[in-house]
Amino acid sequence: MCGIVGYVGYRQAYPIIIKGLKRLEYRGYDSAGIALLNGGLNVYKKKGKVSELEDSLSETELASTIGIGHTRWATHGEPNDVNAHPHYSAKENLAIIHNGIIENYSSLKEELVRKGHIFQSDTDSEVFIHLIEDIYENLNCQLEEAIRIAMNQIVGAYAIVVMDKTAPDQLIAARKGSPLVVGVGKNEFFLASDATPIIEYTNDVIYINDFDIVTIRNGELSIRNIDAQIQTPYIQKLEMELESIEKGGFEHFMLKEIFEQPRSIKDCLRGRLAADKGHLVLGGLRDYINKVINTDRIIILGCGTSWHAGLVAEYIFEEFTRIPVEVEYASEFRYRNPIIKEGDVVIVISQSGETADSLAALELAKSKGAIIFGVCNVVGSSIARATHAGAYTHAGPEIGVASTKAFTAQVTVLTLMALLIANKKGTISEASFRNMLYELEAIPEKVDKALKLNDQIKKLALEFKDSTNFLYLGRGYNFPVALEGALKLKEISYIHAEGYPAAEMKHGPIALIDNEMPVVFIATNDSSYDKVISNIQEVKARKGRVIAVVSEGDSRIKTMADYIIEVPQAHEALMPLISVIPLQLLSYHIAVMRGCDVDQPRNLAKSVTVE
Ligand code: G6P
Repeated sequence: MCGIVGYVGYRQAYPIIIKGLKRLEYRGYDSAGIALLNGGLNVYKKKGKVSELEDSLSETELASTIGIGHTRWATHGEPNDVNAHPHYSAKENLAIIHNGIIENYSSLKEELVRKGHIFQSDTDSEVFIHLIEDIYENLNCQLEEAIRIAMNQIVGAYAIVVMDKTAPDQLIAARKGSPLVVGVGKNEFFLASDATPIIEYTNDVIYINDFDIVTIRNGELSIRNIDAQIQTPYIQKLEMELESIEKGGFEHFMLKEIFEQPRSIKDCLRGRLAADKGHLVLGGLRDYINKVINTDRIIILGCGTSWHAGLVAEYIFEEFTRIPVEVEYASEFRYRNPIIKEGDVVIVISQSGETADSLAALELAKSKGAIIFGVCNVVGSSIARATHAGAYTHAGPEIGVASTKAFTAQVTVLTLMALLIANKKGTISEASFRNMLYELEAIPEKVDKALKLNDQIKKLALEFKDSTNFLYLGRGYNFPVALEGALKLKEISYIHAEGYPAAEMKHGPIALIDNEMPVVFIATNDSSYDKVISNIQEVKARKGRVIAVVSEGDSRIKTMADYIIEVPQAHEALMPLISVIPLQLLSYHIAVMRGCDVDQPRNLAKSVTVE
């Protein structure tokens, strides 16, 4: 939530910052702003998207080799020009950009108001910069020292960058709980919430740790922790390709990412799987495999689509490893005093690796002695770094707010984990293990085939684009797919949709069915196929409009459903990787036809770093 960018060096800061903000817009897009040193410390900000800010500045002289920028997802204070970042300090000598939430802002604000500070906005972030200014002036210390002292008073999460009117070659940044990356160029530095604004200028990055303060001054970088101890910067090489964060000819990132899935699943399997040799390796699990084999239970945590991937994993893990699995929303888990024993295995799934609830749930489980695995997409993210071990999904940057390729990559990694554990534990026969490896290897090609349904699904979307409700039903492995299909539609088209286990329909949703109601059945050929057929008949008896995702060659459902989508068949445990594809495409096309902003749906953000 909220994206931050900073630049100091020899180039013009404005174009770098605007471009960076556009890359970070997936994090929030209700308002945007920048601060530059162009004949004073000037802040320009505007409600709306980054392009609106850019348009409003087309006539303005913006020359500056230092600057900061922000794209906002509102928490405190409605989205408007005043609440947009950057925020000035009281005397307008300092400006701040902030990603996160200051929990104790109101008590700090009261104290500052008593001291005579006048606030412009309703944001918590403005309090941070007033506090820094207050300390800076009273103690007459270095700015980084004032920030350090302020950090000791702040409760909450933040990544901040502060600019000083009197220091044209200085940016100071700090983080606790919100991501912050520094790009190290030749005589120039970049700061950002993730590496996407940095990648075209340098591959050398430093991922800043919690409670660290970065000072960039006179072309030098230094890092201190909150106790003022010097830290050694660890420069890493970025492995991201520039083209992976561009649309590559697609109309939207979401469509590009849907179509990338054959490749992203392949990337996820690469080096880990060799079916002909019966090899399955997950480097991250190596040191912990014996503990996992002997664990009494596995708890899977996540939010949104990642939680759905966890539900698929529950079925797969229990089927193959015979270890009891519980899947929980991270946001519920963290606040309900859960029972966690030493030796429990907790798997945290997160595309961004920054979701605040998932991170907090992880810390809770860790503090109680659980072994924590991460399944993250973003390399070096907070969750990835806080785990004991894990496996990256290697799906490449996912920019569309609605998650697509991350979901299939998560399910792929979790399947690999389950099979590896089952193999080591002896709960899967050698023949079945081999067979599953072959089945997995064949998935990218089958996903590719499912993508060929795009035109057919586009036509279907035209039929249903004006519907106001949708029901998605599936059983077994396809039940989480029903949830995911409904979530995708809600997120980007704003049509109300519910996912349900097909058999539960008769306990409520059946009352909604009439001749207007589209019901999407995920009814591929698996062990619950016959039961799902009965559920389809129940819907047809009530005149519901049935869209059925079935296995290629299906003849029985064809006679009952109004619309049929035939997808390639795989082992039933792997079907979610295929059956989800038409649902992603359906939601995409419906949203486009309804004129919705597919990549940046209203009110949502890709990375939810607030609880
Ligand atoms: C947000 C995104 C979803 C995502 C969820 C969890 O709600 O819009 O697409 O599934 O967060 O994010 P994570 O990065 O933890 O997977």
